Amino acid sequence: SAAEKGGYDYFMLKEIAEQPKAVADTLLGRIDGSGSLTLDEVRIPPRVLREIDKVVIVACGTAFHAGMIAKYAIEHWTRLPCEVELASEFRYRDPILDAQTLVIAISQSGETMDTLMALRHAREQGSKVLAICNTNGSTIPRESDAVLYTHAGPEVAVASTKAFLTQLVACYLVALYLGQVRGTKWGDEIRAVIRDLSSIAGAVEQVLGTMEPVRELARSLASKDTVLFLGRHVGYPVALEGALKLKELAYMHAEGFAAGELKHGPIALIEEDLPVVVVVPSARGRSVLYDKIVSNIQEIRARGARTIVIAEEGDEAVVPYADHLIRIPVTPTLLQPLVATVPLQVFACELATARGNEVDQPRNLAKSVTVE
Ligand code: AGP
Repeated sequence: SAAEKGGYDYFMLKEIAEQPKAVADTLLGRIDGSGSLTLDEVRIPPRVLREIDKVVIVACGTAFHAGMIAKYAIEHWTRLPCEVELASEFRYRDPILDAQTLVIAISQSGETMDTLMALRHAREQGSKVLAICNTNGSTIPRESDAVLYTHAGPEVAVASTKAFLTQLVACYLVALYLGQVRGTKWGDEIRAVIRDLSSIAGAVEQVLGTMEPVRELARSLASKDTVLFLGRHVGYPVALEGALKLKELAYMHAEGFAAGELKHGPIALIEEDLPVVVVVPSARGRSVLYDKIVSNIQEIRARGARTIVIAEEGDEAVVPYADHLIRIPVTPTLLQPLVATVPLQVFACELATARGNEVDQPRNLAKSVTVE
């Protein structure tokens, strides 16, 4: 009913708007007064976490994209090797697992059969399984050794939005916690990032306040057939997530690429007026990555692409090459997906509406996929 949607036309719009609160709620009570993490609810003793020698993440769809981002954070802050695998592929390749492997299963519903079968397989091999889940008492956390709940509240729209942002927060917390427990050379950085996380809900709120031009842009692209998405580093999974949202909601051909792969094939797709969304990494320190993506934008634009550039406030170098510029607040590199994903959700939702599609219940999809 209209009341359930809180005055919004769709649950998806309501859930997009709820993201600052969902993010804040997922952090609540997990950072103590001294700026350390208190994740006692993760019932795997620190002694066991110190002996882990590998992390394996299993998930599907949007949760898999959260896992891809988690890999960057876990490897950086803990120096533990981390693999991310589609849950549906995992057990069929006879993965290498043992008691020193920490498996993280990410699932909004907690009922996804592919993810459940992957975690059962991991436990049979003696691995410890930590679930990141949004649904209290669901099957995946019940069958795991430990669970870190995301506090997004019920997500009704089939297309995942607030659950994704809270999965990211939970993944950062786990990565930082592992770093804290195991002790790494990044102690100062870990403390600084914990501080930055505490104010990240405000940054998400800020993005939400600037979405009207994104909606307008989406409407103007309603008759297009294809949209491409490019990113690097943590911007790469963000590009994949932007493309998935567009497939699910707008039924458009959408693909995400790592921008460095362009020259290995996808650049052949670029033609006059093709919309290409580019997620630009932080301009701070002018990293090598940053310069490379700016030259990617120049390359595709020279070939006629209509560039839709998502870049930090204050990043002026991209301005000459952006046909459309979407600004996001400055964040630490690894946290950028929390703000960069939001315009892509709004973009897909508005395109779906403009194309006359059912936003909350896209064709052929179910909210939780309980078959393999
Ligand atoms: C996201 O928009 C999708 N509807 C889908 O990819 C989803 O993320 C996937 O099915 C995993 O679901 P889960 O998080 O409930 O396990």
